[in-house]
Amino acid sequence: TKPTSIRQTTARRMSSDGGSTRPSMIEPFRAVRQQTQAIAEPLAPEDMVIQSMTEASPMKWHLAHTSWFFERFVLRDFVHGYVSPEETYDYLFNSYYNTVGPQHCRPRRGMLSRPTVEQVFAYRRFVDDAVIKLLERCDEDVELRRIMTIGLNHEQQHQELMLTDVKHVLSGNPLLPAVYPSPRDGTAIGTIPETGWRRFNAGVVRVGANPDDGFRFDNECPRHRVFLEPFEIADRPVTNHEYLAFVESGGYEQHQHWLSMGWATVQDQGWRHPIYWYREDGRWRQYTLHGPVDLRLDEPVCHLSYFEADAYARWVGARLPTEFEWEQAAADQALDGVIADEQRYHPAPLDPRETQPTRFFGDVWEWTGSSYTPYPGYRPPDGALGEYNGKFMCNQYVLRGGSCATARSQARLTYRNFFPPESRWQFAGLRLARTLA
Ligand code: AVJ
Ligand code: FE
Repeated sequence: TKPTSIRQTTARRMSSDGGSTRPSMIEPFRAVRQQTQAIAEPLAPEDMVIQSMTEASPMKWHLAHTSWFFERFVLRDFVHGYVSPEETYDYLFNSYYNTVGPQHCRPRRGMLSRPTVEQVFAYRRFVDDAVIKLLERCDEDVELRRIMTIGLNHEQQHQELMLTDVKHVLSGNPLLPAVYPSPRDGTAIGTIPETGWRRFNAGVVRVGANPDDGFRFDNECPRHRVFLEPFEIADRPVTNHEYLAFVESGGYEQHQHWLSMGWATVQDQGWRHPIYWYREDGRWRQYTLHGPVDLRLDEPVCHLSYFEADAYARWVGARLPTEFEWEQAAADQALDGVIADEQRYHPAPLDPRETQPTRFFGDVWEWTGSSYTPYPGYRPPDGALGEYNGKFMCNQYVLRGGSCATARSQARLTYRNFFPPESRWQFAGLRLARTLA
């Protein structure tokens, strides 16, 4: 037998002590791959092939792409003489890495009736086995562990996208299918108290992350200083109750609340309320991944675009926090919101007895007023993975805090999600801020 099938440079990258001091990556790999299976499990093959809009990918494509990522960046680079079982997948399931090669175009991912769902699951199993075999041989390799960690975080990002994308698909079906179990929330306990405000003085604060703080995406680095004017920030997210007042007072018919691009979108798209809300027999209802339900007024408002979040904030005489105001205010906050690990995939109602401030992390992503731009000194990593985040730093806004579809490990202080301002299908809401004199 060959002494090793991993590439020769590996020896240099072994941890200097040589012992098995690092926890194995096999278990984290299995856990993340298993969580993807759990998301797919209640879905039918027919649910997995539809592409409901350009921005959303079919479940089947996500299942294949997340495996392709490990094949392309782990197996091909670390397994000597690796041969793919399906060379065509390198074209079909490459999302946007031009360094790697050309790609099947995104708006047509829903045209891929082949490979079948079954074949994609077989591809997943093949990649699972090959990665585990590799890790059994060289779990200690520093560079391998670095890429594996990116692969795991990548798959977790896609788990959230699988949920939001399949929700968009299913919401377009008049049967409004219930696919995940209903959370047992009980009835509302009482009126949610008025928003309280937390004040912050002017000053220079440190934001962002250092690469050696534990896993961080490149766009969270480098850590740097920013100056903040005095501001105050709400101690909880905006609720359905509050947002409904905007809807019912004609907020979607009044141009003065909206940015010009937002108002144009409202008119072009005929927006009258958040996506997934609808009226039935005089009641407000909403579609959730556990089926249609009455709109609960005590939940954080969810599935807003930046335009809607911004318009609501202006309507109440406030604004969106900047991503740095948000980060300063969240720095001493615990994770007390719903995250994906709970598998309920819907925000939890606020409880009037809850100590505030609350829900900076989990439940709903919070739109910030900050454009998604590089931090001072940002440099995308070398190679194909340099295309992961940096090249999207144009025409998008930053969201913070994670949602009910975000994995626990990604609901961290410096994590920057980003979407274009018209995107409404993510689990996104808002928290208000105001400038102080
Ligand atoms: C951070 C959610 C905007 O949707 O492309 C997935 C995540 N990056 N694969 C995206 C991502 C590479 C990214 N978002
Ligand atoms: Fe991806």
